[in-house]
Amino acid sequence: MATPSQTPSVPRHIAIVMDGNGRWARKRFMPRGLGHKAGVDALVKVVQAAADRGVGFLTVFAFSSENWKRPEEEVSGLMSLLLVALSKHLTRLKADGVRIRIAGDLENVSEKVRHALLDAEASTCDNHRLVLTVAFNYGGRWDIVQACQKAVDAGLRGDALDEAALSRFMAMSYAPDPDLFIRTGGEVRLSNFLLWQSAYAELVFSDCLWPDFDAGELDRAIAAYAARERRFGDVGSSGKGDGAIGANVPSPHTGEGS
Ligand code: FPP
Repeated sequence: MATPSQTPSVPRHIAIVMDGNGRWARKRFMPRGLGHKAGVDALVKVVQAAADRGVGFLTVFAFSSENWKRPEEEVSGLMSLLLVALSKHLTRLKADGVRIRIAGDLENVSEKVRHALLDAEASTCDNHRLVLTVAFNYGGRWDIVQACQKAVDAGLRGDALDEAALSRFMAMSYAPDPDLFIRTGGEVRLSNFLLWQSAYAELVFSDCLWPDFDAGELDRAIAAYAARERRFGDVGSSGKGDGAIGANVPSPHTGEGS
C-alpha cells in the first residue's frame, strides 16, 4: 500500500487523455481527421520524451467506449489512422525499447484492427524501457465490470473479494497505478478513463490542445506533479506533530482521503 512520501521527481506511470485534436484542426480550417493525424505525431514524440525521462509506464486514451457515438466517418477515420500509425511507427518504437500493451474491449472492433493491435503487443513483448498502454475501446466502468465478471468466473466468493483481489483482474493489472493523470484540451473531467486506477493520481489539466503537446509540456506537467505532496489519506509531513490537545485539529472529515 502506498504511504505518504516525498514525491519522486519523475512519475513511474503517466496516464493521458489526449483531448483537443478536433479544435486544433478547426483552428486551421482543416478536417478533424487531420487533427487526429497530428495527434499521432504528438504521441510518438511524447512516448520518446517520457522514455528519455525514465517514465516506466505511459497509458493513453486512444479510443473510448463512448467514441462510437461520433460520426461514422470519424470513427472509421480513427480506425484507419490506427492501422497507418502502427505500420508507420511500430518498427521505431520497437527499436526504442517500447513495449505496447492494449487495454480495452477488443471483441467489438474489426478483425483487422484487433489483429494489428495484438500483433503490436506480441512483437514488442520483449521490450522493457517503457510500457505504452493504448487504451482502445476502453472505459473505466467497463474495466471494473469486466474485472468483477472475471473474478466471479474464477470462483472468487464475495468474502474473498477485496481491493487487491479485484485489482488482479483489472485490464492493467501489470502496471502500478498512475501517479500523474494529464488531460489536455482544457476540459476538466476524467471522462471514464482509469477510474479505479486513478484513485490517488495527481491530476494535471492543461489548456494545450493535444497536437501541440510536446516534451516541454510534458516537463511542465511533471514539474507540477513533483511539487505536490502525496498524502494517500495520511496527514502528510506538514501535519505531523500537530495532533496535541489544543493544536488546530481538523474535523475527521477534513483530514481524510485528500
Ligand atoms: C480527443 O480529441 C481525441 C480522440 C478521441 C482520439 C485521440 C487519438 C489520438 C491522439 C490518435 C491516436 C489514436 C488512434 C486511434 C490512432 P477530440 O476529437 O475530442 O478533440 P476536440 O475536443 O477538440 O473535438
